[in-house]
Amino acid sequence: MDKGQKFYITTPIYYVNARPHIGHAYTTLVCDAIARRKRMLGIDTFFLTGTDEHGVHVERSATAAQTPPQKWVDKVSAEFRGLFDKMGISYDDFIRTTEPRHKLGAQELWKRIQEKGFIYKGTYTGQYCVFDELYVDSVGPGAPCPECGRPTETVSEENYYFKLSAFADKLLAHYQQNPEFIRPETRRNEVIAFLKTGLRDLSISRSTFKWGIAVPGDPRHVMYVWLDALSNYCTAVGFGAKEEDEQKKFQHFWPADVHMIGKEIIRFHCVYWPAFLMAADLPLPKSIVAHGWLLFEESKMSKSRGNIVRAETVIDVLGNDALRYFLLREIVFGQDGSFSFDALVQRYNSDLANDLGNLSSRTLTMINRYFNGSVPYPSPTVARKATDDVIKEQALTVIQEFTQLFDDFQFSRALETAWSLVGAVNKYLVDEEPWIVAEKEGEENKARLATILYTAAEALRIVTALAYPVLPESASKIWNQLGLGEISKFNLAELKWGQLPLGGKLGKVEPVFPRADKTSIERMQQMEQERAAQAASTASSTATASSPAPAGEGARPGQPASQSAHGPADAAPAAKAAPAIDGKISIDDFLKVELRVGQVKVAEKVKGADKLLRLEVDIGTEVRQLVAGIALAYKPEDLIGRKVVIVANLQPRKLRGLESNGMIVAASVGEDGKPVLASFLEDVPIGAKLK
Ligand code: MSP
Repeated sequence: MDKGQKFYITTPIYYVNARPHIGHAYTTLVCDAIARRKRMLGIDTFFLTGTDEHGVHVERSATAAQTPPQKWVDKVSAEFRGLFDKMGISYDDFIRTTEPRHKLGAQELWKRIQEKGFIYKGTYTGQYCVFDELYVDSVGPGAPCPECGRPTETVSEENYYFKLSAFADKLLAHYQQNPEFIRPETRRNEVIAFLKTGLRDLSISRSTFKWGIAVPGDPRHVMYVWLDALSNYCTAVGFGAKEEDEQKKFQHFWPADVHMIGKEIIRFHCVYWPAFLMAADLPLPKSIVAHGWLLFEESKMSKSRGNIVRAETVIDVLGNDALRYFLLREIVFGQDGSFSFDALVQRYNSDLANDLGNLSSRTLTMINRYFNGSVPYPSPTVARKATDDVIKEQALTVIQEFTQLFDDFQFSRALETAWSLVGAVNKYLVDEEPWIVAEKEGEENKARLATILYTAAEALRIVTALAYPVLPESASKIWNQLGLGEISKFNLAELKWGQLPLGGKLGKVEPVFPRADKTSIERMQQMEQERAAQAASTASSTATASSPAPAGEGARPGQPASQSAHGPADAAPAAKAAPAIDGKISIDDFLKVELRVGQVKVAEKVKGADKLLRLEVDIGTEVRQLVAGIALAYKPEDLIGRKVVIVANLQPRKLRGLESNGMIVAASVGEDGKPVLASFLEDVPIGAKLK
C-alpha cells in the first residue's frame, strides 16, 4: 500500500478510575469526525482509542471497592467502550494496557531504550510524607510536607531513570524543523519555553506498588505509568508483536499522523514521548494536537463540584448528532469552551431543526409534490436567473473553504461556512417562491420550478456530504432521502456541483431533526440529577477511600505536582491545569469541604424513586433536608436517631422535585457499590466538625 495514503489518529487512552463524561466524549468525537472525513476521502485510516489501566490510583480504587484490580479495570474499561459504541464512534481498535499484546510491546520498548544506553539505575534519597505517600522537595529530617503540613521522613529508594536530559537539544531542533509537530502554535511556544529551562532525568520505575507492567529483567519494579501508557500508540498497531502481519501493520501505520490530546497532558506527549522514541530509534509522530477544556457553565467539570455532564444524557434526549454538532460548532477548537443545556438546545434548534432541517424537508417535500419524487432537470437556458448561479458559486467556494478549515482543525469555522450555504439556500427559496411558481401555468414556469428545486437539492447534497463526518446519523438519513444510498461510500475528494442524478428517485422523506423545547432541557437536567444522586451514593465515598496521594506514581494528571517531588524528574508546569481530575488536592481545597456530624430526625421514602430517601438531619445549627440514594441499603425507620456524617456546604440541588441541602457520606462497597454510612465508635456531639 502507498504509505502516503494512510492516516493514523489516536485519542489519549482514558483512565479507568473515573467514569466517562462529556469531556472524554469530546476528545473522542473530534477524532471520530476527522477519521470519518479521511475515510470518505479514500485514505487508509486507522483510528485508535482505549483505556489506561495501570497505576497506584487504579490499584486503590479497586481495593476500596473490594474488587481485584483486573476485575475493576474490566468493568470501567467496558463502560468507556460501551459509551463509545453508543456514540457510534468508528474506532478501528480499542487498546487496553492490561492486554498481553500491550505488555509485550511496552517491555520491548523499554528493552530498546535500555540497549541504546538511555536507562540507568539510581537512588533517590530525600523527604517522604507517609500520610500523602509522596516524595517532597522539603529539605532535612522532619521537614513539613508542603501538601499536608505533617513532618516527613528521610527515605532512600532505588529506581530506574531515563536520560531525558540528553534529549533537550534534539527535541528543540525537532520542534524547529517541524512546525506542525505541536499544534496549535501557542502550545508549541509553551513547550519550547519549558524546554529552554532545561530537562532533568526522569524516574521510570516504581517499586512501591504492584499494579503495572514488570520492568524487563527486574520484576520487583513496575514501569512508570506514563511510559506504559504512551507506548500504547505503538503497541496497538503491532509494535513488539511476533506475528508477521502485526509487524507489517506497524511498518504501514507508524508513525502516527495525529495524537489528539487535551492541553493538560502536553508535556507527556510533546517532551517525554518523542524523547522515548528518539532513544529507541523509532520515528516520531507527525503531529500532536492539543485541544482545550470543556467547562460546564463556565466552571471546570469535576466530581467534587458535582457538575459533571454525561454524554449519555444528551444522546438520550437529543441524539448523537446534536452533541457532536454542538461541541464542534460551539467550541473554538484549541480553546476552553463552555457546555450548557440552554446553549445546546438553542444551537440545536437554530442550526439543525430550523436551518438544515427546514431546507431538507421543504426542498424534498416540494420535489415529491411537484415532480412526483424525481430529481427535476434544470434547463441551462430556459428561465434561468443569476440567483441560481450565485448559489452554485457559493457552494463551490464552501467546498474549498470547508476543506481548508476542517483540515486545519478549525471545525467551528468550517461548519459556519457550510451553514452560510444553508442560510443562503433558505433565503433563495423564500425569494424565488417555488410554491407560487408551482401554481402558475406554462412550460417556462415548470422549467423555473425545476431549476429552483434542483439548485436547492444540489446545494443540500453538498452540505450533507461535507457535514457527514460531524453528523453521521442525520447526514446518512438526508442522503437516503435524496435517493443516493450509502453516504460513507461517497468519494468526498470528487465532490463538485452537478452530481445529483437527474430523474433520480427520492427516498422516503421524513423530518430529521425534531424540534427541542423546554422539556428537553428539563429532562436532561433531571437525568443528570438522578445520575449524580446515584453516583453520590456509590462513587463519592469510594473516591474518599482512595484519595490519599499516590505513592511514587509520578506526574499523572491529577497529581502532576508530585512529579517534581520524585527526585530527579523535571518540574511540572502542567500542575496548574490538572489538580481537579481525580487526584490530589491541597489542604486548602480539602478545608473548603465542611463535614459535620448530624442526627437523623426524619427518614422516609421518596415517591416514585426506589433508591432515594428524604431525610431531615439535625446538624447542630439547623435541621437540614437531604435526599440520599441509600434506600436500597437502609430502611427509613432504622435511620431515625442515627448519627451520620454530612457534607454541609454543598450547593442545594433538586432531586425529584425535593431540595437536597447537603450530602450524606458513605463508603461504597462491593461491585454494586452498596452504600455503608460513615459512623463513629465513640459518641460524638451533633454538629461536630470533621477535619
Ligand atoms: N490516561 C491519561 C492519558 C494517557 S495517553 C497516553 C489521561 N487520561 S484522562 O482520562 O484523564 O484524560 C484523557 C483525556 O480526556 C484528556 O486528555 C482530555 O482530552 C479529555 N478530557 C477529560 N476531561 C476533559 C474536559 N473536561 N474537557 C475536555 N477534555 C477533557 O490523561
